[in-house]
Parts: sequence; C-alpha cells; structure tokens
Amino acid sequence: MSWSPDKTKVNSWNEWDPLKHIIVGRADGGCIPPPEPALDAKVPEESDMRGMFGPRPQHTVDAANEQLDSFVSILKKRGIRVDRPDPLDFNQPTATPDWQTETMFGCMPPRDVLLTIGSEILEATMSYRCRWFEYLCYRPLLQRFYNEDPAMRHEAAPKPRLTDADYRSDYLSDRIGVEKRLQWTADKFFVTTDEEPLFDAADVLRMGRDLVVQHGFTTNLKGIDWLARHFPDHRVRAVNFPGDPYPIHIDATFTPLRPGLIINNPQRRLPEEQRDYFLRNDWEIVDAAPPAHQIPPPLCYSSVWLSMNVLVLDPKTVCVEASEVYQMEQLDKLGFEVIPVPFRDAYAFGGGLHCATGDVYREGDCQDYFPKQ
Ligand code: GLY
Repeated sequence: MSWSPDKTKVNSWNEWDPLKHIIVGRADGGCIPPPEPALDAKVPEESDMRGMFGPRPQHTVDAANEQLDSFVSILKKRGIRVDRPDPLDFNQPTATPDWQTETMFGCMPPRDVLLTIGSEILEATMSYRCRWFEYLCYRPLLQRFYNEDPAMRHEAAPKPRLTDADYRSDYLSDRIGVEKRLQWTADKFFVTTDEEPLFDAADVLRMGRDLVVQHGFTTNLKGIDWLARHFPDHRVRAVNFPGDPYPIHIDATFTPLRPGLIINNPQRRLPEEQRDYFLRNDWEIVDAAPPAHQIPPPLCYSSVWLSMNVLVLDPKTVCVEASEVYQMEQLDKLGFEVIPVPFRDAYAFGGGLHCATGDVYREGDCQDYFPKQ
C-alpha cells in the first residue's frame, strides 16, 4: 500500500507500525466540567479540582497549546502529516432529553474519542455527559477523510442515554477512601453499570487481530461486547488492572511498544491469569520505569503515570515527555531512539502524548501477534 501526504488514506492496525498521519488535539477553550456521576468517581479525592468547574485559565490554555504546537512541529519534521480538530465553544450548557450539564470538556485528547481499526474510524460512545458531543470537533476532519479516501469507513457507536441508571450511586460520595476504592476496583465494582454499552476509545489497545480492552470506569462489559460484535474478525480481550483506584483509559497502565514488548505500570499489574495469554505468545511484560514526578501538574485529572503515556513512531522510535528521565532511560536501554517532547503543560487538558493523538495512517496490515490460543 503506497502512501503520500497529500492523499488521505485511513489505515492503522496497531500502536507501533511506522506512523505517517495523525490527529493532534488542541487545548482551546478547555473546561473543567461540573460534577456528574462518572466524572466525580474519577477526580481523585485529594485533587485541587474537586468542587471547581468552568473554563480553564487562559494562560494554561496558551501554555498547553504552545507544547501541542511544538509536538506537531516535531512530528512534521519527521515527515508525519498532522491534522487538528475544530474546537467548539465548550463553555456552554448541553442537554439531551435525559440530562443536562453546564459545560463540555475540550478536544485535546482525540485518543479518547476516536478508534482507528484498519480503514475504519469509530466514534466511541463515551461515558461522561460532558463529553457526549465531543465527536463534533472531529467531524470536519472525518468528513474530509471520508470524501478523500473511498475505502474509509466512518462509524459511530450507538450514543448512550447516560441516565443515572448507568452509574453506581455508591461512587457519589467524595469520601470513599483509597482502600475501599482499591477493593471495589479489584472486585470489578466500577462506577459504570451494564445498563447499556459504554466505552471510551482510549480503553482499547490495538494489537493486530487482537483488541485488548480495559474494563473499568469508562468502559463496561456491554461496551466490550459491542466492540466484539462490531469487529467480528478480531479477538476482543477484556483486561483489568487491580491497584488502580481510578481505572480510566489503558494508556497509562499497559503500553505496547513493539511486537513482543509491553511496559506495565508496576502499581497496576495485569493479574496472573490474564498474563498467560501474552506470555504463551512470547510477549514480554516489563515493569515501567517510575515517574519522575511525585504529583501531577495543577488541575490535572490524570496520575503521575502519564510518564508511560508514550507515542510510538515506529518499532524503534518513541516520543516521551521530556522531563520523564527514568522512562526515557528505560526505553533507551530497550533499544529505542527516544525523542523528548515537553508536554507537562498539556497534561491537565486530557493526558499525555498518546492521549493527545489519534492515528490515521500507519504503514502495515493486520497481523496475528497471538497465534497460540
Ligand atoms: N488512567 C490515567 C492515569 O493513570 O492517570
């Protein structure tokens, strides 16, 4: 399959094949959304964000955009085509017949919303009310890709109702305590119920014929089942990571780097019985290096483990946040060319380098990396 930057082609089957075309988010207008059931369960109990909502301070938007733009320049210099979403006015109320909320969220992390599998880009259901309309920021791009690539499939998962029946009221308290949260998440008693299919795209790892999906706060078992029915030629495997009191999005927990190699957050190890599938197919799962920081930046939802939220450009090259010295050192020792990318100012807007991007084209086709079933 030949590719040129001026001819759109959607194709990406995994997290590591040579990257040629990607979407990078924007921080413009990013908001801290008001309380709602799923979001409250995720905001850490000790977080400076509890009880706040509204537009993020402009100087933080500017600082984040500066780092996003410089990341874009790094990618472009390496010959990668980069497209950007169209922000909405996120500081406005949105509603459906079932609920209303005062603000939206933003469009910094396309990885949460868009799932590219082969020639298809699928809009996820999402599981927060404040993110229900976020797909609209990507529609201009998706329409363009659809017009320019006759083989592109533009799909959208069924929009969820997101009534209170989707959420466990047990999580409504902000005084649950980490110990109880860890017990609940180990027991797979997550904030989302199985009322209807829910998934965020960032809970899905693409590994050729296998899709590895985190069951947690943002993706429920019905969502995983929906993905299995929607991608019948794939093997869809549910995983969960005890040790994470706020389990959303797999990409600060379990990060495949190249065929046969994954780094796993040592505080959130894949349980033994789920590990076997990887090991019997000769995959190595190594503990990720510790983060360089003790706390996340201000007003940030994510944990310090965004250190391992890296963007693989090809099986020998990886972008890592520039202050994450231990993660860079580990990847260097594992044989990668490491590209340092300053990105901490963007974290609060929705995550790290993997979160902030969405694949459009990687060279290569769908391979089976797990032949031993
Ligand atoms: N799940 C994202 C984080 O660890 O912050």
